[in-house]
Amino acid sequence: MARALVTGAAGFIGSHLVDALLADGHAVLGVDCFNDNYAAEDKRANLAGANDHDAFELLTGDLVDLDAHRLVEQSDVIFHLAGEPGVRGSWGKRFDRYTHHNVGATQHLLEAMADAGDGKRFVYASSSSVYGDALTLPTREDATPRPLSPYGVTKLAAEHLCVLYGEEQDVNTVALRFFSVYGPRQRPDMAFRRFCEAIVGGRPIEVFGDGRQSRDFTYVADIVAATLAAGFADTPPGRVYNLGGGGSVSVNRALETLAALAGRPLDVRHGERQEGDVADTGADTARARAELGWTPATPLRDGLAAELDWVRERAVPFPRMRSLSAS
Ligand code: NAD
Ligand code: UGA
Repeated sequence: MARALVTGAAGFIGSHLVDALLADGHAVLGVDCFNDNYAAEDKRANLAGANDHDAFELLTGDLVDLDAHRLVEQSDVIFHLAGEPGVRGSWGKRFDRYTHHNVGATQHLLEAMADAGDGKRFVYASSSSVYGDALTLPTREDATPRPLSPYGVTKLAAEHLCVLYGEEQDVNTVALRFFSVYGPRQRPDMAFRRFCEAIVGGRPIEVFGDGRQSRDFTYVADIVAATLAAGFADTPPGRVYNLGGGGSVSVNRALETLAALAGRPLDVRHGERQEGDVADTGADTARARAELGWTPATPLRDGLAAELDWVRERAVPFPRMRSLSAS
């Protein structure tokens, strides 16, 4: 069994990865700085299951300030998911946060990896945002990246660092381009979380633009399965993989599915298209299928049903107490 380091352990994807590693019998050291993008109590709740495991330890702090050598020395495989994640918020003054958490933190870890020598694996959570408005859909890994947001630029810079340290410093890196991930614990700024909360709260849904933009939405359990596969696969240093859900779906189409799940028409309002938002994403996943032996398995309808259920459960945390006080 491996000793795994998971950065961004308290976040949406990181916490699911921690749960999966523990379920597989690995020891996990999680690191998270509990940034203020959303409530720290939500992040603590993400780790509720992990905290029950003796094989789980949590270190709270910013990676840039921590002793990366120590973290790396005590780990066999490093899953680097910590990052500043929002596409649309990456313009203006907030850009500092993106360079610090996406580029600086990654370089800090890679330096420690280079000093640590052989036998360790480094998995980096890259992003479909590196492609920007891709010229060909679905897009292959060898397409020229042209990010459309400052966020995408920093994710690409960090990915290039992974490739560089892989090729020049013999660090055993792999970069995974996640495509719009969704499911329970999704970040509160993301589309499906906002749509589900609006449905449950009886509020209108705001779509940015005409809703014809499409994404290769990927269910979080599928992302976790591929991330685990990449962590233990024997691929050449610096390899890059697309991880997409199996097909592009427009926001309007996803809303039709949500309306069917909700059992009623939705009150959808259209606002401005957001700067940095690409028109379409689509992952060619042939490389991940062939080299990681991975296939996305969750249809959008099932994944959306799971996220809607999770949002409903959160909205009524103590149903028994409520019904008692109401009687
Ligand atoms: P998230 O914000 O829920 O989780 C990221 C976690 O990292 C947070 O808990 C945050 O506190 C922590 N963190 C950030 N900077 C840190 C630092 N310097 N030191 C320690 N902890 C730090 O985001 P998420 O949606 O789970 O995304 C995880 C990763 O996957 C990110 O790197 C993101 O860029 C990437 N990604 C996400 C998606 C998606 O659809 N969610 C798609 C592509 C790529
Ligand atoms: C997501 C993540 O937020 C990024 O961290 C990640 O890097 C990126 O995927 C990726 O795949 O690389 P995004 O595609 O914008 O970014 O994901 P969503 O928040 O699910 O948005 C999907 C679409 O819905 C976007 O066009 C967005 O503008 C739209 N949207 C979002 C709305 O119409 N209304 C909302 O309230 C929120």
